[in-house]
Amino acid sequence: MKLADNKATLSFSNGSPSVDLPVYHGSVGPDVVDIRKLYAQTGMFTYDPGFLSTAATQSAITYIDGDKGELLYRGYPIEQLATNCDFLETCHLLLYGELPNTDQKKDFTSRVTNHTMVNEQMQFFLRGFRRDAHPMAIMTGLVGALSAFYHDSTDITNPEHREIAAIRLIAKMPTLVAMAYKYTVGQPYMYPQNNLSYAGNFLHMMFATPCEKYVVNPVIERAMDRIFTLHADHEQNASTSTVRLCGSSGTNPFAAIAAGVACLWGPAHGGANEACLNMLEDIQKMGGVSKVGEFMEKVKDKNSGVRLMGFGHRVYKNYDPRAKLMQETCREVLTELGLQNDPLFKLAMALEKIALEDDYFVSRKLYPNVDFYSGIVQRAIGIPVPLFTAIFALARTVGWIAQLNEMIGDPEYKIGRPRQLFSGSVKRDVKPLAVR
Ligand code: ACO
Repeated sequence: MKLADNKATLSFSNGSPSVDLPVYHGSVGPDVVDIRKLYAQTGMFTYDPGFLSTAATQSAITYIDGDKGELLYRGYPIEQLATNCDFLETCHLLLYGELPNTDQKKDFTSRVTNHTMVNEQMQFFLRGFRRDAHPMAIMTGLVGALSAFYHDSTDITNPEHREIAAIRLIAKMPTLVAMAYKYTVGQPYMYPQNNLSYAGNFLHMMFATPCEKYVVNPVIERAMDRIFTLHADHEQNASTSTVRLCGSSGTNPFAAIAAGVACLWGPAHGGANEACLNMLEDIQKMGGVSKVGEFMEKVKDKNSGVRLMGFGHRVYKNYDPRAKLMQETCREVLTELGLQNDPLFKLAMALEKIALEDDYFVSRKLYPNVDFYSGIVQRAIGIPVPLFTAIFALARTVGWIAQLNEMIGDPEYKIGRPRQLFSGSVKRDVKPLAVR
């Protein structure tokens, strides 16, 4: 953070003295006005519900240029990472700041691989859930429960604990998601296979059974790996900010990540991929491509409460670069599986075409986000719709933990404690029950 030559001056129309506020430059992106001393200087807070103009932290991990539609992890464009690197290389980049060399990659992969099993007791914990429980309900519980199993990595002030908790979380999330799936379908859990890649192992734990050999399809493996890479981090979004706020109290990393999982569940955030696929299936039932125009009229009618799921983003005011990559993966997977004529893919393309030409979407700069195509890919792979957000959580875990560790290591780190503009009743006296 570099102090700018200029300052911001806040003046008041009621004659109160004006105050100078420092301005800082980031390495790229908008400058920030430092308001930390504003309350001490003026007795006033700033008001910004939804954080529309507030940088809650400084971070060196992920940069998004929403107008250009650019996403960089530690400076590297997402397109290059998704094309030239695998997910574990991306995890190394996010956690430690650099892509691994050959030896570092080998070492990191082996550390993650050696932590893929979960404590055997976890399956008894899982057994307490109803078989029809939503996977995100299960994941919130299982991830939080990890803190009860791994006592030796719960002290966030200890860098070694933070390191081992990071590896454990990245390693165990696929195992937990696959266990949640196997539990709902009543199949035996499949133990991790250390000879497989991270994505290949996940596919194996999801789709293998003890009855026959399961061979990982390399096209599907690559698609899964890309889904993980595209979802690995996205700077200060709702769930990441939740993880930071939760972790700022000094709670253990497993508890903080469980809070992130809970936040991600919502349909305005990670739950949008599930909501998007349900929307496509509903339109398909109504008559498919021929009903797109009718559906779009509902979307544009503010009283209908209908939104085009998988469209729009708080930061991107251009095409989400992840959506482009996901569309490419979607084609590859559908071709590999002989599903080129998948009606939902055709429907999604038709919706996208209309939306990109319609003034309602153009004027509001609403473009497809990553969720628009990710559901179609996952459904083609055989992943049930309610599991989509759990897979997003699996992939985002590395981002959450990298952001959490960055916060704890920041000398300016403090517990997060937002303030408020109070609009409730002023002080009053309690009346006895008989006269209320
Ligand atoms: N369909 C129809 N209209 C939309 C949509 C949409 N998907 N998204 C935004 N709009 C409209 C709003 O009605 C609003 O119109 P107005 O200015 O006339 O009132 C305008 O566009 C701005 O929208 P806001 O909701 O104010 O924008 P915000 O930044 O708060 O919301 C959000 C962003 C939540 C992503 C929103 O675009 C949305 O609900 N999209 C659908 C859900 C979705 O796909 N979420 C995934 C996000 S990406 C992720 O988490 C991985």
